[in-house]
Amino acid sequence: MTIRPRPLVAGNWKMNGLKASLPELAAIRDGVMAGAFGRAEAAICPPATLVSLAVELAQGSELAIGGQDCHAKVSGAHTGDVSAQMLKDLGVTYVIVGHSERRTDHSESSAQVRAKAEAAITAGLIAIVCVGESEAQRRAGETLSVVGQQMDESWPAGATAATLVIAYEPIWAIGTGLTPTAQDVAEVHAFLRARAVKLGAVEGAGVRLLYGGSVKPSNAAELMGVPDVDGALVGGASLTAKDFLGIAAAYKG
Ligand code: 13P
Repeated sequence: MTIRPRPLVAGNWKMNGLKASLPELAAIRDGVMAGAFGRAEAAICPPATLVSLAVELAQGSELAIGGQDCHAKVSGAHTGDVSAQMLKDLGVTYVIVGHSERRTDHSESSAQVRAKAEAAITAGLIAIVCVGESEAQRRAGETLSVVGQQMDESWPAGATAATLVIAYEPIWAIGTGLTPTAQDVAEVHAFLRARAVKLGAVEGAGVRLLYGGSVKPSNAAELMGVPDVDGALVGGASLTAKDFLGIAAAYKG
């Protein structure tokens, strides 16, 4: 029997959350401390404006805090951007790079995503690299070729199981309430695992592969039970402690 890595359930708050949302984060932290996530690790990636406060709030607990993006450069004339080193400086553990919303809203290419992931790893962060197909690509039967190409082009040089997480997020499942079947997720994750082994050899075998897209308490156990699914990247359902801790129940017991 192969030993699987410790699963990760990461919440992506996207462009949501004000200081008034911090009690929700505190409730998530308290749930983590009470063992709600069982053998899984929990992380929340708040908007950049809340990262510092979130790190303070999570201090001394097992709740990790992440950023939602970083620049590929360490510093310089890049108005509005945040570097991986700046996030690390705050006490952040993870950073999401290449989310489909950034690939769309900011025309980010896989080459840029790769540079960001490499910057994250160099800064001492764990990069969560997102891949996923559009609805049209799935209908055209291109899912595996699309995510395979994204993997190849976004994979950071020198990544290890300890520094890289891959999140498979079918774009059509994000925020829609739609999810692929467990069988479809299994097919993509088996493909991603083989690709990760090709790209990272033994380290690729240990890289955590998350599923993301409309994960909620009612479907978490089924999706998290799929082979080679090592956790979840959660959007909407990570905004409340009730739902996020409800998802954690998939890992209890
Ligand atoms: P939802 O869980 O809201 O579908 O969002 C998924 C996502 O994009 C997480 O990064």
